[in-house]
Amino acid sequence: MPGMGVDYASSVNRMREIPGAWRRTAFGAGLLGPDGSTRPTIFAEMSALAARTGAINLGQGFPDEDGPPAVLEAARAAIAHGVNQYPPGRGIPDLLDAIAEHQLRFYGQHLDPHRDVLVTAGATEALAATLLALVEGPDDEVVVFEPYYDSYAAVVALAGARLVTVPLRWPDFQPDPDDLRAAVSNRTRVILVNDPHNPTGAVFTRELQDEVVRLAERHDAVIVTDEVYEHLAFDGPHVPIATLPGAWERTLTISSGGKTFSTTGWKIGWIAGPSDLVDAVLAVKQFLTYVNGAPFQPAIATGLRLPDAFFDDIAEAMRAKRDLLGSGLRAAGFDVSVPSGSYFTVMDAAPLGATDAAEFCRALPERAGVVAIPLTAFASPARRAEYATLVRFAACKRVEVLEDAASRLAALAG
Ligand SMILES: Cc1ncc(COP(=O)(O)O)c(C=O)c1O
Repeated sequence: MPGMGVDYASSVNRMREIPGAWRRTAFGAGLLGPDGSTRPTIFAEMSALAARTGAINLGQGFPDEDGPPAVLEAARAAIAHGVNQYPPGRGIPDLLDAIAEHQLRFYGQHLDPHRDVLVTAGATEALAATLLALVEGPDDEVVVFEPYYDSYAAVVALAGARLVTVPLRWPDFQPDPDDLRAAVSNRTRVILVNDPHNPTGAVFTRELQDEVVRLAERHDAVIVTDEVYEHLAFDGPHVPIATLPGAWERTLTISSGGKTFSTTGWKIGWIAGPSDLVDAVLAVKQFLTYVNGAPFQPAIATGLRLPDAFFDDIAEAMRAKRDLLGSGLRAAGFDVSVPSGSYFTVMDAAPLGATDAAEFCRALPERAGVVAIPLTAFASPARRAEYATLVRFAACKRVEVLEDAASRLAALAG
């Protein structure tokens, strides 16, 4: 670390010489420069820029207010009552029960809480453990929709597998079923679906979901779904792919309490699926973190049992924030997509003369006092040109913060 008596530059140089998974991962995730050196992620760069300039940070997707008091209180009570040691490897029974109850209440799924559910260190660990469990090496392919949440490419690289991408195109970001059919083959081990989708806010149609199931059956692939925004769908109830005919036995459904309860720092996630697949993931997960977040587990169980009104309200509040942000961006002269879910809105900066969204985002704090993320941060090098002028804004901030950001952005039009 700089300033701690260690020569940082030479340790980075030494890292370049070390072969192994870190290098594959950094390369797969686009974190290595052309000379092989590591570079900070655009998220770190933009958050540092927000801190330096005092700009409003609509870059990283974390809420700026606390979630439901009952959930926070349950964590405090758990700590006070000694829930501070290793929980069981699969998760505390009360949370396993609450996840099964939640899947039944919202999706009509009947799970065996002690065989079909696994608690993880956020959705991130669930994804990592799942891919490490299911893919074996360079002959295995993982199909993802691009742009994608950045950990996908990193973990596929870490697992030594090949990433195959299906493009989502501006402005509705719905995949072309022909592109999907072309991407899936007998080499496909996993089709990884993120719905509602980060970074685009797209929600996949029922036809597309059916096609995913058909292709997975035909090619004997496992479907892995990342549904962390399941309660932030704006145009109707969320439909997990696992509930479609023929899907359950080959689908692992991943979610997390972070987005639903505004507790992204707690990292309580879970996987639901058939017990043989869940056991395969557990075999890896137990050697990644083993367990995590003992006092947060009963708190997330409390959250999952909140009344329906809570879940309706958070979707409604986020939809209002989407509208507020969208109208601010439109007033500033941008073309704006209309997301159907998640925290995020994508706009095209080309109408204001931008040709490179990364440069546009680097300049935005000075020009308008707002921070955003270029969509290229979520794309593989080969496809970055398609997203060259697109920018992602996070709407998961207080209304007054979004109003302030909207009026700052409107000044760009003048
Ligand atoms: C699509 C998606 N998946 C997974 C995660 C990570 O979830 P967790 O914080 O539960 O690890 C995020 C967080 O931004 C996300 O956007």
